[in-house]
Amino acid sequence: MSQIQSAQSNLSEIQAQALKKFKEAASSKALYELKVEYLGKSGKLTEVMKEMASLPKEEKPLFGKIVNEVKVALEKAYEVRESELKAKELSEKLAAEEIDLTLPGVERFRGAEHPVSKVIHEISSIMARLGYSLRLGPLIEKDYYNFEALNIPADHPARDMQDTFFVDKAHVLRTHTSPIQIHSLETEKPPLRIMGVGAVFRCDSDISHLPHFHQIEGMCVDRKVSMADLKGTISFFVKEYFGSQLKTRFRPSFFPFTEPSAEVDCTCPICLGKGCSMCKQSGWIEIGGCGLINPRVLEHAGVKYPEWQGFAFGFGIERMAIIKYGVDDIRLFPENDTRFLRQFES
Ligand code: DAH
Repeated sequence: MSQIQSAQSNLSEIQAQALKKFKEAASSKALYELKVEYLGKSGKLTEVMKEMASLPKEEKPLFGKIVNEVKVALEKAYEVRESELKAKELSEKLAAEEIDLTLPGVERFRGAEHPVSKVIHEISSIMARLGYSLRLGPLIEKDYYNFEALNIPADHPARDMQDTFFVDKAHVLRTHTSPIQIHSLETEKPPLRIMGVGAVFRCDSDISHLPHFHQIEGMCVDRKVSMADLKGTISFFVKEYFGSQLKTRFRPSFFPFTEPSAEVDCTCPICLGKGCSMCKQSGWIEIGGCGLINPRVLEHAGVKYPEWQGFAFGFGIERMAIIKYGVDDIRLFPENDTRFLRQFES
Protein backbone atom coordinates (compact mmCIF):
# COMPACT_ATOMS: atom_id res chain seq x y z
CA MET A 1 0.00 0.00 0.00
CA SER A 2 1.36 3.45 -0.92
CA GLN A 3 1.86 5.99 1.82
CA ILE A 4 -1.12 8.00 0.64
CA GLN A 5 -3.36 4.97 0.51
CA SER A 6 -2.48 4.02 4.06
CA ALA A 7 -3.11 7.62 5.23
CA GLN A 8 -6.43 7.55 3.43
CA SER A 9 -7.60 4.35 5.13
CA ASN A 10 -6.36 5.72 8.45
CA LEU A 11 -8.43 8.85 7.85
CA SER A 12 -11.60 7.01 6.96
CA GLU A 13 -11.21 4.93 10.11
CA ILE A 14 -10.85 8.11 12.18
CA GLN A 15 -13.88 9.59 10.43
CA ALA A 16 -16.04 6.52 11.05
CA GLN A 17 -14.94 6.35 14.66
CA ALA A 18 -15.60 10.06 15.25
CA LEU A 19 -19.03 9.97 13.61
CA LYS A 20 -20.01 7.01 15.78
CA LYS A 21 -18.80 8.73 18.96
CA PHE A 22 -20.51 12.01 18.01
CA LYS A 23 -23.78 10.10 17.65
CA GLU A 24 -23.35 8.43 21.02
CA ALA A 25 -22.40 11.62 22.90
CA ALA A 26 -24.90 12.09 25.72
CA SER A 27 -24.43 15.80 26.31
CA SER A 28 -23.19 18.89 24.51
CA LYS A 29 -20.29 18.97 26.95
CA ALA A 30 -19.25 15.38 26.11
CA LEU A 31 -19.65 16.23 22.42
CA TYR A 32 -17.38 19.24 22.78
CA GLU A 33 -14.73 17.05 24.39
CA LEU A 34 -14.94 14.75 21.36
CA LYS A 35 -14.52 17.74 19.05
CA VAL A 36 -11.33 18.63 20.87
CA GLU A 37 -10.17 15.00 20.65
CA TYR A 38 -10.64 14.80 16.89
CA LEU A 39 -10.54 18.35 15.51
CA GLY A 40 -8.58 20.19 18.18
CA LYS A 41 -5.03 21.58 17.91
CA SER A 42 -3.47 18.34 19.09
CA GLY A 43 -6.40 16.18 17.95
CA LYS A 44 -6.28 13.03 15.85
CA LEU A 45 -6.81 14.82 12.55
CA THR A 46 -3.97 17.22 13.22
CA GLU A 47 -1.72 14.24 13.94
CA VAL A 48 -2.52 12.79 10.50
CA MET A 49 -1.85 16.16 8.88
CA LYS A 50 1.68 16.03 10.23
CA GLU A 51 2.35 13.09 7.87
CA MET A 52 2.02 15.50 4.97
CA ALA A 53 5.57 16.70 5.57
CA SER A 54 7.02 13.32 4.62
CA LEU A 55 4.98 12.92 1.41
CA PRO A 56 6.43 13.48 -2.05
CA LYS A 57 5.64 16.98 -3.27
CA GLU A 58 3.17 15.90 -5.98
CA GLU A 59 1.05 13.91 -3.55
CA LYS A 60 0.66 16.73 -1.06
CA PRO A 61 -2.32 18.51 -2.74
CA LEU A 62 -4.35 15.29 -2.96
CA PHE A 63 -3.55 14.40 0.60
CA GLY A 64 -4.49 17.91 1.76
CA LYS A 65 -7.78 17.67 -0.09
CA ILE A 66 -8.68 14.32 1.54
CA VAL A 67 -7.85 15.55 5.04
CA ASN A 68 -9.87 18.67 4.45
CA GLU A 69 -12.90 16.68 3.30
CA VAL A 70 -12.76 14.61 6.47
CA LYS A 71 -12.43 17.77 8.55
CA VAL A 72 -15.43 19.43 6.87
CA ALA A 73 -17.50 16.25 7.25
CA LEU A 74 -16.68 15.99 10.95
CA GLU A 75 -17.38 19.67 11.57
CA LYS A 76 -20.73 19.33 9.90
CA ALA A 77 -21.59 16.20 11.88
CA TYR A 78 -20.54 18.05 15.04
CA GLU A 79 -22.85 20.97 14.31
CA VAL A 80 -25.83 18.73 13.58
CA ARG A 81 -25.33 16.68 16.73
CA GLU A 82 -24.65 19.78 18.80
CA SER A 83 -27.93 21.39 17.82
CA GLU A 84 -29.77 18.12 18.57
CA LEU A 85 -28.21 17.90 22.03
CA LYS A 86 -28.69 21.60 22.79
CA ALA A 87 -32.38 21.38 21.90
CA LYS A 88 -32.77 18.30 24.09
CA GLU A 89 -30.97 19.97 26.99
CA LEU A 90 -33.07 23.12 26.68
CA SER A 91 -36.33 21.23 26.76
CA GLU A 92 -35.14 19.22 29.79
CA LYS A 93 -34.15 22.45 31.56
CA LEU A 94 -37.49 24.06 30.78
CA ALA A 95 -39.36 21.01 32.03
CA ALA A 96 -37.35 21.03 35.27
CA GLU A 97 -37.90 24.74 35.82
CA GLU A 98 -41.56 24.77 34.96
CA ILE A 99 -43.52 27.11 37.22
CA ASP A 100 -46.52 25.55 38.87
CA LEU A 101 -49.01 28.37 38.83
CA THR A 102 -51.38 26.41 41.03
CA LEU A 103 -48.97 26.45 44.02
CA PRO A 104 -50.03 28.82 46.81
CA GLY A 105 -48.01 32.09 46.92
CA VAL A 106 -45.45 32.99 49.56
CA GLU A 107 -47.25 34.88 52.29
CA ARG A 108 -45.82 38.36 52.76
CA PHE A 109 -45.55 39.89 56.23
CA ARG A 110 -47.63 43.00 56.25
CA GLY A 111 -46.99 45.84 58.66
CA ALA A 112 -49.75 46.80 61.07
CA GLU A 113 -50.66 49.93 62.95
CA HIS A 114 -48.70 50.20 66.20
CA PRO A 115 -50.99 49.62 69.22
CA VAL A 116 -50.23 53.14 70.49
CA SER A 117 -51.42 54.66 67.20
CA LYS A 118 -54.38 52.30 67.22
CA VAL A 119 -55.49 53.47 70.68
CA ILE A 120 -55.06 57.13 69.63
CA HIS A 121 -57.24 56.59 66.56
CA GLU A 122 -59.89 54.66 68.49
CA ILE A 123 -60.12 57.18 71.34
CA SER A 124 -60.13 60.18 69.04
CA SER A 125 -62.83 58.73 66.83
CA ILE A 126 -65.06 58.04 69.87
CA MET A 127 -64.47 61.56 71.19
CA ALA A 128 -65.03 63.08 67.74
CA ARG A 129 -68.63 61.91 68.04
CA LEU A 130 -68.95 64.19 71.10
CA GLY A 131 -67.48 67.10 69.15
CA TYR A 132 -63.84 66.82 70.31
CA SER A 133 -61.05 67.49 67.82
CA LEU A 134 -57.33 66.71 68.12
CA ARG A 135 -54.59 69.14 69.11
CA LEU A 136 -50.84 68.60 69.22
CA GLY A 137 -48.20 70.62 71.02
CA PRO A 138 -44.42 70.92 71.37
CA LEU A 139 -42.50 68.06 73.02
CA ILE A 140 -40.04 70.57 74.48
CA GLU A 141 -42.18 72.86 76.59
CA LYS A 142 -41.48 76.06 78.40
CA ASP A 143 -41.48 75.45 82.14
CA TYR A 144 -44.35 77.95 82.12
CA TYR A 145 -46.72 75.75 80.07
CA ASN A 146 -45.74 72.47 81.67
CA PHE A 147 -46.06 73.77 85.27
CA GLU A 148 -46.66 77.44 86.00
CA ALA A 149 -49.77 77.99 83.84
CA LEU A 150 -51.23 74.76 85.23
CA ASN A 151 -51.11 76.21 88.74
CA ILE A 152 -47.94 74.34 89.66
CA PRO A 153 -45.61 77.21 90.72
CA ALA A 154 -41.87 76.75 91.22
CA ASP A 155 -41.26 75.01 94.56
CA HIS A 156 -44.83 73.73 94.67
CA PRO A 157 -44.76 70.21 96.15
CA ALA A 158 -46.85 68.94 93.18
CA ARG A 159 -43.76 69.26 90.97
CA ASP A 160 -42.42 66.29 92.85
CA MET A 161 -45.19 64.17 91.36
CA GLN A 162 -43.35 64.26 88.06
CA ASP A 163 -39.77 63.29 87.49
CA THR A 164 -38.87 65.88 84.95
CA PHE A 165 -36.22 65.85 82.21
CA PHE A 166 -34.92 69.42 82.10
CA VAL A 167 -33.58 70.71 78.76
CA ASP A 168 -32.32 73.91 80.35
CA LYS A 169 -33.46 76.17 83.19
CA ALA A 170 -36.60 77.31 81.38
CA HIS A 171 -37.44 74.26 79.22
CA VAL A 172 -38.47 70.69 79.92
CA LEU A 173 -39.47 67.62 77.93
CA ARG A 174 -43.21 67.86 78.62
CA THR A 175 -44.18 65.56 81.46
CA HIS A 176 -47.87 65.44 80.48
CA THR A 177 -50.22 66.56 77.71
CA SER A 178 -51.93 69.10 80.00
CA PRO A 179 -49.86 72.04 78.59
CA ILE A 180 -51.83 71.51 75.34
CA GLN A 181 -54.86 72.76 77.31
CA ILE A 182 -53.10 76.05 77.96
CA HIS A 183 -52.07 76.53 74.31
CA SER A 184 -55.66 75.95 73.30
CA LEU A 185 -57.07 78.31 75.97
CA GLU A 186 -54.61 81.03 74.86
CA THR A 187 -55.20 80.75 71.13
CA GLU A 188 -58.78 79.55 70.65
CA LYS A 189 -62.11 81.02 71.65
CA PRO A 190 -64.50 79.05 73.87
CA PRO A 191 -66.71 77.03 73.67
CA LEU A 192 -63.98 74.43 73.19
CA ARG A 193 -63.84 70.66 73.00
CA ILE A 194 -60.35 69.42 72.31
CA MET A 195 -58.23 66.29 72.73
CA GLY A 196 -54.52 66.91 73.27
CA VAL A 197 -52.46 63.91 72.27
CA GLY A 198 -48.83 62.86 72.04
CA ALA A 199 -45.59 61.72 73.63
CA VAL A 200 -44.63 62.69 77.18
CA PHE A 201 -41.44 62.09 79.16
CA ARG A 202 -40.63 61.21 82.75
CA CYS A 203 -37.49 59.92 84.34
CA ASP A 204 -39.01 56.60 85.33
CA SER A 205 -38.62 53.04 84.02
CA ASP A 206 -39.92 49.68 85.22
CA ILE A 207 -42.51 47.04 84.33
CA SER A 208 -45.32 49.63 84.41
CA HIS A 209 -43.45 52.88 83.59
CA LEU A 210 -41.60 54.12 80.52
CA PRO A 211 -39.45 57.27 80.29
CA HIS A 212 -41.15 58.02 76.96
CA PHE A 213 -44.85 57.24 76.76
CA HIS A 214 -48.07 58.77 75.44
CA GLN A 215 -51.09 60.54 76.86
CA ILE A 216 -54.42 61.72 75.59
CA GLU A 217 -56.15 64.60 77.27
CA GLY A 218 -59.66 65.95 76.92
CA MET A 219 -60.79 69.49 77.69
CA CYS A 220 -64.25 71.00 77.46
CA VAL A 221 -64.85 74.70 78.11
CA ASP A 222 -68.39 76.00 77.94
CA ARG A 223 -70.83 78.34 79.69
CA LYS A 224 -72.05 75.86 82.26
CA VAL A 225 -69.99 72.78 82.99
CA SER A 226 -70.38 70.45 85.96
CA MET A 227 -68.94 67.25 87.45
CA ALA A 228 -72.06 65.52 86.08
CA ASP A 229 -71.06 66.50 82.51
CA LEU A 230 -67.57 65.19 83.18
CA LYS A 231 -68.85 61.90 84.60
CA GLY A 232 -71.29 61.50 81.70
CA THR A 233 -68.54 62.11 79.14
CA ILE A 234 -66.10 59.66 80.73
CA SER A 235 -68.80 56.99 81.25
CA PHE A 236 -69.75 57.29 77.58
CA PHE A 237 -66.11 56.97 76.58
CA VAL A 238 -65.50 53.90 78.80
CA LYS A 239 -68.56 52.09 77.43
CA GLU A 240 -67.63 52.86 73.84
CA TYR A 241 -63.98 51.96 74.24
CA PHE A 242 -63.98 48.97 76.60
CA GLY A 243 -67.55 47.65 76.39
CA SER A 244 -71.11 48.70 77.23
CA GLN A 245 -71.29 46.60 80.42
CA LEU A 246 -68.46 48.53 82.13
CA LYS A 247 -69.14 50.98 84.94
CA THR A 248 -67.15 54.10 85.86
CA ARG A 249 -66.44 55.48 89.34
CA PHE A 250 -64.68 58.62 90.58
CA ARG A 251 -62.41 58.70 93.63
CA PRO A 252 -61.50 62.07 95.18
CA SER A 253 -57.97 63.12 94.31
CA PHE A 254 -55.79 66.19 93.83
CA PHE A 255 -54.36 67.91 90.77
CA PRO A 256 -53.28 71.56 90.96
CA PHE A 257 -55.00 72.36 87.66
CA THR A 258 -58.43 70.94 88.57
CA GLU A 259 -60.79 71.60 91.47
CA PRO A 260 -62.43 69.36 92.47
CA SER A 261 -60.25 66.54 91.15
CA ALA A 262 -60.90 62.83 90.82
CA GLU A 263 -59.22 59.65 89.80
CA VAL A 264 -61.23 57.58 87.34
CA ASP A 265 -61.69 53.82 87.71
CA CYS A 266 -63.66 51.52 85.44
CA THR A 267 -64.81 47.92 85.88
CA CYS A 268 -61.80 45.73 85.01
CA PRO A 269 -62.37 44.84 81.34
CA ILE A 270 -60.35 41.64 81.71
CA CYS A 271 -62.39 39.95 84.49
CA LEU A 272 -65.50 42.20 84.28
CA GLY A 273 -65.26 42.97 87.99
CA LYS A 274 -64.75 39.44 89.34
CA GLY A 275 -61.13 40.10 90.34
CA CYS A 276 -57.96 39.13 88.48
CA SER A 277 -54.24 39.86 88.50
CA MET A 278 -54.71 42.89 86.19
CA CYS A 279 -57.00 44.66 88.72
CA LYS A 280 -55.17 43.20 91.72
CA GLN A 281 -58.38 41.33 92.65
CA SER A 282 -60.28 44.61 93.21
CA GLY A 283 -62.54 44.36 90.13
CA TRP A 284 -61.72 48.03 89.35
CA ILE A 285 -58.93 49.51 87.34
CA GLU A 286 -57.60 53.07 87.34
CA ILE A 287 -57.61 54.72 83.92
CA GLY A 288 -56.69 58.35 84.57
CA GLY A 289 -57.28 61.66 86.30
CA CYS A 290 -59.89 64.36 85.81
CA GLY A 291 -61.65 67.33 87.34
CA LEU A 292 -63.22 70.72 86.80
CA ILE A 293 -60.63 73.13 85.46
CA ASN A 294 -59.30 75.26 88.29
CA PRO A 295 -60.58 78.86 87.78
CA ARG A 296 -57.01 80.07 88.36
CA VAL A 297 -55.91 78.14 85.27
CA LEU A 298 -58.70 79.62 83.14
CA GLU A 299 -58.09 83.19 84.31
CA HIS A 300 -54.33 82.86 83.98
CA ALA A 301 -54.85 81.92 80.33
CA GLY A 302 -57.21 84.87 79.81
CA VAL A 303 -60.51 82.98 79.89
CA LYS A 304 -63.17 84.67 82.05
CA TYR A 305 -64.56 82.62 84.92
CA PRO A 306 -67.42 81.98 85.84
CA GLU A 307 -68.65 83.07 82.40
CA TRP A 308 -66.65 80.13 81.06
CA GLN A 309 -66.13 76.92 82.97
CA GLY A 310 -64.51 73.66 82.06
CA PHE A 311 -63.58 70.09 82.78
CA ALA A 312 -60.53 68.07 81.77
CA PHE A 313 -59.31 64.51 81.92
CA GLY A 314 -56.13 62.67 81.02
CA PHE A 315 -55.35 59.05 80.18
CA GLY A 316 -52.13 57.16 79.52
CA ILE A 317 -52.30 55.59 76.08
CA GLU A 318 -50.05 52.59 76.74
CA ARG A 319 -52.08 52.02 79.90
CA MET A 320 -55.29 51.94 77.83
CA ALA A 321 -53.77 49.28 75.55
CA ILE A 322 -52.49 47.31 78.56
CA ILE A 323 -55.94 47.27 80.12
CA LYS A 324 -57.82 46.51 76.91
CA TYR A 325 -55.53 43.78 75.63
CA GLY A 326 -54.11 42.40 78.90
CA VAL A 327 -50.45 43.26 78.17
CA ASP A 328 -48.28 42.47 81.18
CA ASP A 329 -45.20 44.61 80.54
CA ILE A 330 -45.35 48.20 79.28
CA ARG A 331 -41.78 47.92 77.94
CA LEU A 332 -43.08 45.74 75.08
CA PHE A 333 -44.55 48.81 73.35
CA PRO A 334 -41.34 50.59 72.31
CA GLU A 335 -39.43 47.35 71.67
CA ASN A 336 -40.96 46.91 68.18
CA ASP A 337 -40.80 43.13 68.34
CA THR A 338 -43.03 42.12 65.43
CA ARG A 339 -44.23 39.01 67.29
CA PHE A 340 -45.81 41.37 69.82
CA LEU A 341 -47.01 43.99 67.33
CA ARG A 342 -48.66 41.48 64.96
CA GLN A 343 -51.15 40.59 67.68
CA PHE A 344 -52.73 44.01 67.14
CA GLU A 345 -53.20 43.53 63.39
CA SER A 346 -56.82 44.05 62.50
N1 DAH B 1 -51.73 65.57 83.68
C1 DAH B 1 -52.01 64.53 84.63
C2 DAH B 1 -50.84 63.56 84.73
O1 DAH B 1 -50.09 63.52 83.85
C3 DAH B 1 -53.24 63.75 84.25
C4 DAH B 1 -54.47 64.58 84.36
C5 DAH B 1 -55.16 64.63 85.55
C6 DAH B 1 -54.92 65.31 83.29
C7 DAH B 1 -56.31 65.39 85.66
C8 DAH B 1 -56.05 66.09 83.37
C9 DAH B 1 -56.74 66.11 84.59
O2 DAH B 1 -56.54 66.80 82.36
O3 DAH B 1 -57.86 66.87 84.67
O4 DAH B 1 -50.72 62.86 85.67
